[in-house]
Amino acid sequence: MAAMSFSVSLRPPEFPATASNHRSTAVSLPRRRALSISFASVSAETSTAPPARPEIELEFIGPKPGDAVERTTAISGEKLLRNIMLDNRIELYAAYGKVMNCGGGGSCGTCIVEIIDGQDLLNERTNTELRYLKKKPESWRLACQTIVGNKENSGKVVVQRLPQWKKR
Ligand code: FES
Repeated sequence: MAAMSFSVSLRPPEFPATASNHRSTAVSLPRRRALSISFASVSAETSTAPPARPEIELEFIGPKPGDAVERTTAISGEKLLRNIMLDNRIELYAAYGKVMNCGGGGSCGTCIVEIIDGQDLLNERTNTELRYLKKKPESWRLACQTIVGNKENSGKVVVQRLPQWKKR
């Protein structure tokens, strides 16, 4: 703990020596008295910071060769993949989905992504996904149904955007 100290001097007020207010029998006071005040401050090293929460590293690959790879991180188990992508302005929807998506309600099927790596860091496919992605590859997910992390795990997830555009 760091401590600062400084001194403040307090002196009794001085009055002019006139006949009316001057008493020669006045009690003698010390002319100068030092007062010491100490302040304690809490330094950052002693504060109890909450433990760091695990993070998931995300990498987004575009559907066309030469598309820029976009990266971000998310607190494990805190957000849906759809929200992470929208918050970071990472393209999720194709033209139709941009205007006709259900807002993450799981009823339009336009938020499809493919998980290239890190599937084990995500939740299991939901019933909504099982319905919409019945005939699609196992690695496809609906971003609005996909929780990134489980609050305890950490690692890297690689996401292919718009996998339906990819040449197979
Ligand atoms: S946004 Fe509609 S199903 Fe995902």
